[in-house]
Amino acid sequence: MSETPQSADLIVFGGTGDLSMRKLFPALYHCDRDGRLAPETRIIAMSRGGLDDADFRGKVDAEVRGSVPVDDLDTWQRFLDRLHHVSVDISGEDATGWAALTALLAGHEQRSRVFYLASPPMTFGPFCRELHRAGLVTPASRVVLEKPLGRDLASAQRINDEVGAIFDEEQIYRIDHYLGKETVQNLLVLRFANAFLEPIWNSLWIDHVQITVAETVGTPGRRGYYDHAGALRDMVQNHLLQLLCLVAMEPPSRNDRESIRDEKVKVLESLRAITGGEVDRFTVRGQYTAGESGGVQVPGYLDEPDNTAPTDASHRVETFAAIRAEVKNWRWAGVPFYLRTGKRMPDRYSEIVVQFKDVPHSIFPGSTPNRLVLRLQPSEGIKLHIMAKEPGAGEVALKPVPLSLSFAETFTTRVPEAYERLLMDVLTGNPTLFMRRDEVAAAWRWIDPILGAWESYGTAPEPYPAGSSGPAGAHELVSRSDRAWHEEYPA
Ligand code: BG6
Repeated sequence: MSETPQSADLIVFGGTGDLSMRKLFPALYHCDRDGRLAPETRIIAMSRGGLDDADFRGKVDAEVRGSVPVDDLDTWQRFLDRLHHVSVDISGEDATGWAALTALLAGHEQRSRVFYLASPPMTFGPFCRELHRAGLVTPASRVVLEKPLGRDLASAQRINDEVGAIFDEEQIYRIDHYLGKETVQNLLVLRFANAFLEPIWNSLWIDHVQITVAETVGTPGRRGYYDHAGALRDMVQNHLLQLLCLVAMEPPSRNDRESIRDEKVKVLESLRAITGGEVDRFTVRGQYTAGESGGVQVPGYLDEPDNTAPTDASHRVETFAAIRAEVKNWRWAGVPFYLRTGKRMPDRYSEIVVQFKDVPHSIFPGSTPNRLVLRLQPSEGIKLHIMAKEPGAGEVALKPVPLSLSFAETFTTRVPEAYERLLMDVLTGNPTLFMRRDEVAAAWRWIDPILGAWESYGTAPEPYPAGSSGPAGAHELVSRSDRAWHEEYPA
């Protein structure tokens, strides 16, 4: 059931950047094509680019059109006509950009007004102050903060204070695009709209959980950011912890903005802290070296082409992280949650594996425990591996076989990109899938001691060749307790 779209002004800071070109504008085009943007809705890109509207429309035409299905030129033109560009000076010395934005927005105070900050986090505070000074923050305004939100708890709190001085918490949308992915939302439906899972969703029946986000891409051209981020800040603090929350949370009383977020915060606050020397036992860091990925020879992290040369920070940063986490509460006591993410892995895939315990008493030789695999990408779907008897008249032979749900085969509708969903939620004012301030703080509170211990123990990342499944330490992390990563399981 589609609602009548409300007209809105979406102002994107960092409007000519990589994220805007690769994700935001394609997603907005899809929303437009599906009739979800009101005719008057405008998209205003802010950047240092010195472009006028025509230049900017030309840029989007050249860079975005090839990546979206343009089956009808009128629709594409309608989308281009929504686009505007305003050049803004980040130092604040030249106020002409703010004046131009003010002129563009004048007379449209009643529309929902969304400021999307797809710019580096140090600009969040200054941009919000400028918007306030220019009188552009209306009661119907919202602000979207892209990750990374700080690099530790202290810097995240500072950013949140700066933004919070201008916008109320209900107006602030902290984005984690993993929450917009279809299968991630399906996880909530699977857990809370089906009766059979909930009674066994606990430490009595579940042996452990694995969450893997593997990427084949490296980090060419991203050294400036990545050297100071690393896999823990870039992926674990947000995407992987959000997935862990959705697997581990208690059933919320309602599907509304606060109930779900309240439950997620409780999970984050239940994570057992990993401190001091424990990092050697519970965490693994890796950095890729040269190797073969996707059939081609690729350089190691330190030799990736970039504008800046590697520094000490480049040697110390991890492109792979694995952690054995524990949720210290009644439901999950003693169940390890293994988290793993890395660049230049053999395949690009994200999945959650829930490994059940063996039957209490086995009467058949060769039975293996059940396993539920939720594939987030690619080929979104759910597989429940159960034991079945192989056909035959001889001895009973067992075989694990998957009960399989492929979203592509079951539903013929297009699976929307995460940003489509999230952008529409911001435009319509639904913050359920966005992170609340206390959620971000709780995640950093768990991450900070790990970062601190890595720093003080000088834990160097273990090398792993590009195209491999990570450093040896990651395998030891699970094999120590007689477990294995999913790809190493027998079929
Ligand atoms: C981003 C990270 O948040 O997520 C990137 O900064 C990473 O390093 C990306 O590549 C992965 O997103 P997706 O949707 O492609 O899995």
